[in-house]
Amino acid sequence: MPLTTTGELVAEAAARRSAVAAFNVITLEHVEAVIAAAETVGEPVVLQVSENAVKFRAGRLHPIAAAAVSAARDSAVPVALHLDHVKDEALLREVADCGFSSVMFDAAHLPYAENVAATRRAARWAHANGLWLEAELGEVGGKDGRGPLDAHAPGARTEPGEARRYVEETGVDALAVAIGSSHAMTSRDAVIDHALLAALHDCLPLPLVLHGSSGVPDEELQRAVLGGISKVNIGTALSIAMTGAIRAHLDADPKGVDPRRYLAAGRQAVTDTVVQLLRTVAAAPVR
Ligand code: G3H
Ligand code: ZN
Repeated sequence: MPLTTTGELVAEAAARRSAVAAFNVITLEHVEAVIAAAETVGEPVVLQVSENAVKFRAGRLHPIAAAAVSAARDSAVPVALHLDHVKDEALLREVADCGFSSVMFDAAHLPYAENVAATRRAARWAHANGLWLEAELGEVGGKDGRGPLDAHAPGARTEPGEARRYVEETGVDALAVAIGSSHAMTSRDAVIDHALLAALHDCLPLPLVLHGSSGVPDEELQRAVLGGISKVNIGTALSIAMTGAIRAHLDADPKGVDPRRYLAAGRQAVTDTVVQLLRTVAAAPVR
């Protein structure tokens, strides 16, 4: 199955009034696990590498990108590759020649005018280089170890009128919206503001993206897809699965030293988690 593009997968999902799931990958084991799960379920999938995952690799995008491209090309289901939460414009420019089809440019922490200026610049560059660009307005909390934003904090919710203006001013292809989810949650009890999602879906002419989906319970996730979310970003759930399985493996075999044994346990746990999440997203009622 050829490597496909995020733009195509999101457009197909939106046309079906459904969503494509996008999973953050840190290691080769994540890449293998997500693709194995997608093949099990028979669903397309987006693999995302975040700027933080690139920092973990001493700032080098190309080694993990090359591995992900190779694995995606061998996959039995369509796989697209996406660079996630990029703030560094130099890293944004590296994506053009590494097989990724899309980028999420994250200027949500900036005041509105600065967010618009930086995102418009990123979108123009992305489009000139054949890339699909996602951006964020209102800030989904919980990034970089910071706690979730209070629901009433400025920017904790995306305001529909401002979002409409932002989309016109920046020319982005998809918008991440702040509607109650938060990054890095290890419990699944986020409450989505469905009325706000409906208002955003009504007034915005582009696909909407849900970030911080690990903390969103299955039913809320399905309701969010029903309400207009076309791309569902999931990362922490994979970390919980991998770390829990490796911890259990090492606890049960404290003298073991072969990394293949505990990495296999971690990879399998990620596969199992991704299978469940793909089924949850695929089973969302159609809008
Ligand atoms: O962009 C990535 C996602 O928003 C992941 O969030 O780690 O809370 O699932 P999560
Ligand atoms: Zn995110």
